[in-house]
This record gives sequence, C-alpha cells and structure tokens, in this order.
Amino acid sequence: MSQPRIQLTNITKTYGQKTVLNNLNLHLGEAEMVALLGPSGCGKSTTLKILAGLEHADAGEILVDGKDISKVPTRKRNMGIVFQAYSLFPHMTAKDNVGYGLRIHGTAAAARRKRSEELLELVSLAEHMDKYPVQMSGGQQQRVALARALAISPELLLLDEPLSALDAKVRSQLRDEIRRIQLSEGISTLLVTHDQEEALVMADRIGVMNAGIIEQIGTPGELYNQPNSPFISEFVGVVNRLPGFYQDGHIQVLGSQLLATNEHEFTNGDIAVALVRPEQIEVLADPAGSHTVLNKQLRGIFTSVTLTGPERSPIRVDMSSRSADAFEIGQPVKLRVERTDTVIGSPTKNEAETLKQYQKESN
Ligand SMILES: Nc1ncnc2c1ncn2[C@@H]1O[C@H](COP(=O)(O)OP(=O)(O)O)[C@@H](O)[C@H]1O
Ligand SMILES: [Mg+2]
Repeated sequence: MSQPRIQLTNITKTYGQKTVLNNLNLHLGEAEMVALLGPSGCGKSTTLKILAGLEHADAGEILVDGKDISKVPTRKRNMGIVFQAYSLFPHMTAKDNVGYGLRIHGTAAAARRKRSEELLELVSLAEHMDKYPVQMSGGQQQRVALARALAISPELLLLDEPLSALDAKVRSQLRDEIRRIQLSEGISTLLVTHDQEEALVMADRIGVMNAGIIEQIGTPGELYNQPNSPFISEFVGVVNRLPGFYQDGHIQVLGSQLLATNEHEFTNGDIAVALVRPEQIEVLADPAGSHTVLNKQLRGIFTSVTLTGPERSPIRVDMSSRSADAFEIGQPVKLRVERTDTVIGSPTKNEAETLKQYQKESN
C-alpha cells in the first residue's frame, strides 16, 4: 500500500487515573472511510478529538501525509468535523453556516457564495439555502453540517455519531448520501459510531474498539465472517450462543464438531459457547428431530425462524422467506451448522448449568 494519508501511532491518553486510549494504532488511506465502532465510553470520540487537535495525546504520533501534526493547532489542521447534532450557528442561514469556514479562511464573498451554493446542492438542499436551522428538520440540519465541513476542502473529514439523533428512516437515507458524497469527493473520512449497521454499510474498514484499544480492524466482510474474539462476533452482527463441550481445539454443538478459530484458555471437557450467526444454521424437516419451530418473523426478503431444543435457549435461524414457507410452527426439525469453524467464548453460569442438566437427563 502507498503511504497512508493519516497515521496514528501508539496513541495513549489518560484522564486522571483512567487510561482512555492505550497504544492505539490506526491509519486511513486516500479516499478511505474508516469507522471506529464500539460501546459507549470506549474512546472513539477521544480518538477523533485527538486527530482534530481538540484534545492532546499523552504519547504517540499523528502523521498527515508523513508529517507530524501534533503541534499544529485545530484551526490550522484543515479538517472538517460533523458532530451528533445541533451544531449549526442558529442565527445564520444554511448558506451562511456553510460559508462560515471559508470566511475564516479569508475567501472573498462572491467565491464563498458560489462554493456554499454548490455544496448545498451536493447535499440536496438547493431549495433551503436561506433557511435558518430552526426552520429545518434534523436530517436537513445534518446535511448543512456536512456541507459546512466539506466547504473548506478538508484533508480529513471527521464524523462523530453524525446520525445518532435522527430517526431510523432519515438515518438510513443519510447513510447512503454521506457515503455517496464521501466517495465522489474522494475524501479520507473517520466515522465514529456505536451503530454496527451504520459501520457495516458505510465504511471501507471498521476498527472495533473496546476499552481504549482497537480489538480488530478489517473490512466489514472480514469482521463479520472472521471475527477474532467473542466480543467482535457479538458486537458486529447477531449471533446464537450455543453451549457445547470443548475437546482438542473443537467444540461440539448441534451434532457437529466445529474448529475453534480464536485464542482461548479452554481445556478438554470444559463447557464453551460457540457463536454462530443465524444464517449459518440449516433447518431440515425431520419428524424425529429434537428441535421445534417456535415462531417465524418475516423481515422482508428473509425470515427469522426461532427454534427450541431440549438443551438450550431459543435458536434463531435466518433464511429466505420462501424457504421459511416450508416450515410450520410446532413442526419438529433437525439443525445443522453450515460452517466447520467458529469463535468460542465463555458460557454464562446459566448456559453451563443448562447444558450439564441436559447431559445428565440424556444419559
Ligand atoms: N474531558 C474528559 N475528562 C475526563 N474523562 C473523560 C473526558 N472525556 C472523555 N472522558 C472519559 O473517557 C472515556 C472515553 O470517552 P469517549 O472517547 O468520549 O468515548 P466514546 O466516544 O467511545 O463513547 C469515557 O470513560 C469518558 O468518561
Ligand atoms: Mg463519543
């Protein structure tokens, strides 16, 4: 790969006694969108603020095009930032909000007006240029905020939960729109979010953060299909937790031996939990099967089928809605895992006891 546009190396940040970022490493390529995804308080916004110069790291290096910018003040970093919401200047029209950064940079009035109008067209707000923030919806205000961030042709776009305050429909429209604009403008972008779906649909790569470190970084497909820990597996997407016995690097669940792919400390005979996604289980009609169809939920193109078994809590299987038509509630079925490997984790007390109880009864 060519030299990354942005490189964070061994960034450490503490607040008092608390280490918020612990030797964090991250790079962004040219025109790449990287999402930082993680639970609240894991250090996502702190990372973004350090990039923007709004906070300072205790240790580590920030390079933009190979040059250290640690000492460059925020206003000289040439970065466009969009926060969660309500960050527009209330006393300025959409056009004046967008032109604000250009004014600070000393751009002449005529050029400013032209650029502001172009950007408001880019975010589909041509009709609303002279409105004040109170006259616009939340989604429209965030479009203005995006146009304002882009007006200065920033080297890096920083988005901190830009869609979190919006309702579901608007959020999903704006995801597509932000991604379209980011790609057409070819701008390197860091997206901070706690919403896995948002990260999966928008970003080229996702770094999943947990307690001040990036646990795994990769394309959406890599994180979804090859998670390296139970935390990643459960955080990115939906999983079934299937308890089973651990033996020689494998776990036995639903009649299959699955190879454990992650590092772990289980020894033979331990109860572990396989984390298996709902679309990785096959349902087969079988009058002698030990599972029963409990419920079917149509979710559009696919249907979630919930099944019970004697040995564990309900299992969710996602299949095409057409396939689901073949199953009726109450029908006995057999299940099969369609993979040969899995991430494994520790069982809860309840999961372990249920499995032991089942084993006792079936012996
Ligand atoms: N200015 C600050 N002073 C003290 N603690 C802070 C400050 N900013 C953030 N923190 C703490 O740092 C941790 C990470 O915060 P943050 O980066 O905002 O998390 P996230 O954006 O992932 O939710 C949290 O525990 C938060 O309480
Ligand atoms: Mg935050």
